[in-house]
Amino acid sequence: MLRKSRTTIAALALGAVTLGMTPALADPHPDAELVVNGEITIPTRGTAPAYLDGHLTELYSGWLFREDETRAMQMDDFDNPAMVFTDAGLEAWDTVEGTEGKSCATCHHEIESMAGVRAAMPKYNEKAGDLWSLEEYINACRTERMGAEKLKWNSDKMKAMTLALSIQSRGMPISVNIDGPSKPYWEQGREIYYTRYGQLEMSCANCHEDNWGNMIRADHLSQGHINAFPVYRLKDAGVVSIHQRFVGCVRDTRAETFEAGSPEFKALELYVASRGVGLAIEGAGVRP
Ligand code: HEC
Ligand code: HEC
Repeated sequence: MLRKSRTTIAALALGAVTLGMTPALADPHPDAELVVNGEITIPTRGTAPAYLDGHLTELYSGWLFREDETRAMQMDDFDNPAMVFTDAGLEAWDTVEGTEGKSCATCHHEIESMAGVRAAMPKYNEKAGDLWSLEEYINACRTERMGAEKLKWNSDKMKAMTLALSIQSRGMPISVNIDGPSKPYWEQGREIYYTRYGQLEMSCANCHEDNWGNMIRADHLSQGHINAFPVYRLKDAGVVSIHQRFVGCVRDTRAETFEAGSPEFKALELYVASRGVGLAIEGAGVRP
């Protein structure tokens, strides 16, 4: 396996962040296969896209870095704690809300019609002339087409809906567009990915590109992909959105963070999604 040098480990040892190098644990699980409910096979390894210029060669889903029990929870919807929230989203799909007397199903019919949508997010919206995350597409339909109120980015109702939509794309390859009008957003996201933030002066790349596979405190560092999001975090006993995870990671460098839904995090979302082209959508993941 080709790896980048480990020189940045010195930087990681700063402050309260201590890295224990434990080579035995260093690699993602060598042969675990993700098959959900015994029927949906989801590839968790892939070849990195050319535009990563060899910064990553093999792609590994975050699932492969987790303990056996946590991995097992994601393999069975009865054991996956995210499914309670997903069910709330499925129910909301059919629920009439707002002044127009419509539900999502009124126009989109079966939620299965959303297969592939999550895999292409975030994506450039021509009409708005902006990069939109899934949350914004949902809110646009609610406010402009249903006469319903906007949902907060990290509200339970929003996460339930993004979960319900994400599982429609389970096993489908990540397919974000990074060309044309998406390109400047992708470049902005890449810039952010490599910028060192906070007192620890660390970038996303310092952890997820230079040190994936290593232990940081008690955590086995993954490549930081978003293909499994939204995820259920056992520690928080709740669902975590993509931008919430970004906030947590930036805070860990003791930096001021961008807000969930900010232009910066949307651009970062596009870039991080593109780093996972070669992997497939897993939402709903389970994490410690
Ligand atoms: C009045 C009809 C209507 C209702 C009700 C409606 N939508 Fe939409 N929705 C649309 C239309 C029209 C589009 C744009 C389709 C396009 O551009 O291809 C769209 C687009 C979307 C997209 C983006 C799809 C894509 O491929 O880019 C998502 C996601 C979505 N809707 C989710 C929802 C959800 C969730 C609800 C319920 C909260 C909902 N919609 C309610 C009509 C509706
Ligand atoms: C100080 C090290 C550190 C930095 C810097 C850092 N992260 Fe993380 N990140 C972690 C740890 C630890 C986890 C939890 C274990 C794992 O999946 O790697 C994590 C998890 C993630 C995950 C979830 C992966 C999964 O499959 O559950 C994503 C996505 C992520 N980080 C993105 C980012 C982005 C984007 C940045 C830059 C804004 C960033 N991280 C900066 C340490 C870091």
